[in-house]
Amino acid sequence: MPCEAWITGTGSYVPERILTNADFERMVDTTDEWITTRTGIKRRHVVAEGQATCAMGEQASLRALEQAGLSANDIDLILVGTVTPDMVLPSTAALLQERLGAQRAAISDMVAACAGFIYGLATARAFVVSGMCRQVLVVGGETLSSITNYQDRNTCVLFGDGAGAAVVSSSPGRARILSACLRGDGRQWEDLYIPAGGSLRKLVPSDLENGSRFIHMNGSEVFKYAVRGMTESTEQALADAGLSPADINLFIPHQANVRIMEAVAKRLNLGPDRVFSNIAEYGNTSSASVPIGLDEAYREGRIRPGDVVVLSAFGAGFCWGSAVLKF
Ligand code: ACO
Repeated sequence: MPCEAWITGTGSYVPERILTNADFERMVDTTDEWITTRTGIKRRHVVAEGQATCAMGEQASLRALEQAGLSANDIDLILVGTVTPDMVLPSTAALLQERLGAQRAAISDMVAACAGFIYGLATARAFVVSGMCRQVLVVGGETLSSITNYQDRNTCVLFGDGAGAAVVSSSPGRARILSACLRGDGRQWEDLYIPAGGSLRKLVPSDLENGSRFIHMNGSEVFKYAVRGMTESTEQALADAGLSPADINLFIPHQANVRIMEAVAKRLNLGPDRVFSNIAEYGNTSSASVPIGLDEAYREGRIRPGDVVVLSAFGAGFCWGSAVLKF
């Protein structure tokens, strides 16, 4: 008899330091009015000197474990969704295991950009349903400020830092994961990428000046594919769960751009009251945005027992996906 997979705890963390739109008006040729109307972003949180992805992930994980009533030693597997690991080697999951003291856990990172948490959640569900694991810690954490070019107005206003976490368990808890749909299209990789710093194009001194170690983005293509991808994967995940968009009580989309979220909501016929948004405060935190949203929505009382909650994300690759939760 296959197990079911449940979310038994969530947690999140954002650093204290804040960059406002007024700060960007001093850094690049932009205005609060442009950023607000084009993206919905007002502020983003960024790490302090010496702070990075693992430290934020640790705080989010401790809160998720506390809610789940578990200790680090109960965890069988740690999955960290990130494109901004503390180091290329070892994985951030390895560093997080050490910080938490989760010595029994297997450890791996999930490199699926902004969809990293959804990919991690779907993977955790598969491990739990198969019986291979009883408790999986899934983290989405990013220090996007480390790969953002603060001289490029096309991208720098969008990104922030933070982390979110969820414990996925075989024993019944707060929300059952009814379904998950993952998708990808590697043909679009050049629409969102970092040219230098990998094994193909090793960093040379001039890369420190010319911006090629930072995010490059074709904004309009990302916009178009993100709307289509999040809509279709949400419809598919709902169909797999025997549900339709009309059943959604709360939709928690990746916080990339308020206009992307509005376009997806319109296609799914969801009014603003059924769409969670905190983009004004945090900007786009990539893989952290969905678990931060899920944690905030729960702690703010936006989710009630019986609610159907849909998570959806889209990111570089392109890769994307959605998951349906029943509280
Ligand atoms: N301030 C002022 N002007 C700007 C800024 C800025 N910060 N950034 C770009 N512009 C200018 C450009 O230089 C360009 O000027 P030009 O026409 O003279 O060349 C113009 O604004 C572009 O205008 P639009 O095409 O109308 O901009 P658009 O409405 O497409 O908005 C944006 C651009 C916000 C990047 C949008 O395309 C977008 O959000 N795309 C999705 C990108 C995204 O979410 N990326 C996140 C990573 S991937 C993910 O998380 C899903």
